[in-house]
Amino acid sequence: MLTPQENDRLTRVGKGTPMGEAFRRYWIPALLSEELAEPDCPPVRVRLLGEDLVAFRDTNGDAGLVDAFCPHRRAPMFFGRNEECGLRCVYHGWKFDTNGTCVDMPSEPALSSSNGSLFKTKVAIAAYPTFEAGGFVWTYMGPRETIPPPPDYEFVRAPATHRYPSKTLEECNWLQALEGGVDSSHATIMHNMNIGDRSWLHDFEATVPRLDLERTDYGFSYSGVRTLPDHQWVRVYHFVMPTIQMRGTIQGSDLQEGYIPRIDGHLWIPIDDENTWVFNFMYSYDPATPLSHEEALGVETRAGRGPDDLTPDYRAKRNKHNDYLIDRALQKSASFTGIKGVNTQDFAVQEAMGPIVDRSKEHLGTTDRAVITTRQLLLEATRAVERGEMPLGSDPTAARAVRPADHRIACGLDWRVTLRDELIARY
Ligand code: FES
Ligand SMILES: [Fe+2]
Repeated sequence: MLTPQENDRLTRVGKGTPMGEAFRRYWIPALLSEELAEPDCPPVRVRLLGEDLVAFRDTNGDAGLVDAFCPHRRAPMFFGRNEECGLRCVYHGWKFDTNGTCVDMPSEPALSSSNGSLFKTKVAIAAYPTFEAGGFVWTYMGPRETIPPPPDYEFVRAPATHRYPSKTLEECNWLQALEGGVDSSHATIMHNMNIGDRSWLHDFEATVPRLDLERTDYGFSYSGVRTLPDHQWVRVYHFVMPTIQMRGTIQGSDLQEGYIPRIDGHLWIPIDDENTWVFNFMYSYDPATPLSHEEALGVETRAGRGPDDLTPDYRAKRNKHNDYLIDRALQKSASFTGIKGVNTQDFAVQEAMGPIVDRSKEHLGTTDRAVITTRQLLLEATRAVERGEMPLGSDPTAARAVRPADHRIACGLDWRVTLRDELIARY
C-alpha cells in the first residue's frame, strides 16, 4: 500500500509536481509518426503531462511540438496553416518553425518596438525538441541543459519492415495502467480464455515458477522459471524507467510454421492525471523474418485493439461507457472476464478502479513484488530530481542492449548461461 501522500506524489504529472518533474527528465513518445502522415499535413492536438500542445510536420518532414496557443493573443494553433517550414497562426498570421522561432510576423511593422529592435526576434512559441524513431515521435519536456541522449532501445532500432507501433487511449491514471503491465501474475486468471479446461490450473499449481527480480541501472528485470516434466519454461521481462515494459512472446513447445519470433511491449504515457496513452510496440527479433502487416494486425486484434476495435482517435469501442460489452454467458462458459480482447480486459479492471486508485486500501501479497519495486524506483526517481540529479534510466543507453525472452530449454540447464546470447539486443 501507499500513503495518500505517496500516492499523490506518484500519480500527479503536471508541471511542478514530483512525478511530473521526474517525467520531464526522460524522452517519452508524444504521438505516432503515422499521425503526421506527410510534410505540411494538418496539425494534431497533443496533450501530454497535462500540457496542451500541437504537433505538426513541416515541409522538410521534421516534426514540431509547440504550445497549443499562440503567444500573441492565444489563438488555437490547431487551426494553424502548415506552410513552408512553419505553422502560421490564422488570427494575425504569426508563423513559427519547429524550434518555436517566430519566422514571420505580418501584422507588425519590421521595426515595431520602442527601442527600434525587431519585435519578431523577441517572441517565440514554447516548443519541445522531438526525435523520431521506431514509428514514434519522441519528445523531451524538461530543462534543455539536462537533455539526455535520444531513445536507443532495440524496439526503436528494429527495421520498419520488422516492427509495428500502435497506441490506445486508456481512461485512468498512468500508474495503475503501468502496474498492470509489470504484474504478470494476473495473466493466468484474467487473460485465460479457456477456463473449461482446468489443466492450466493443475499446471499452475504443480509448477509454481521460481520468480526473481533483479534491480538494474535502467529499472529491473523479472524472471519466472517453471520446471515442467520435459523442459523448463523461462520468461524474462524488463521494466525500463519510468514506464516501459518489454516482454517475450509465448511460444508453443514447437515453433509452428509461420511463427514469428516477436518481442512486445508498452509505454504508458500520461496525457494528464486521469488519462493515459498506451503506446504499444512489437517487432520480429529475427532479422531474417520480417513482421508482415497482416501478422501484426492479427496480434492487435487478439489484444482488442485491431482496426475494427478502435475509433479513428484511438479509443476502444468496447470501453467503460458500455461496460466493455461484457458477455455474461461467455463469462460462465469460457473466460473469467467475459470480455473480448486481452488489452480490453486490462482496461476494464484498471479503468473501473476509478481515475486514480486509492492505494491506501490495498493488501499486497507476495506476487506483487514487481509492483512494489516499480513504486520504489519511481519514488526514488522523484527524490533524485528534487536533489537536482538525473533519475535512474533517463539515459536510454542504459537499456540499449537489453532484450526480454520467453523460451523453453532442457531440464537441468542454467537459463542464465543457456540464454545469455538471447538476452542481448541484436538490432
Ligand atoms: S493570436 Fe496568433 S497571430 Fe495573433
Ligand atoms: Fe494484462
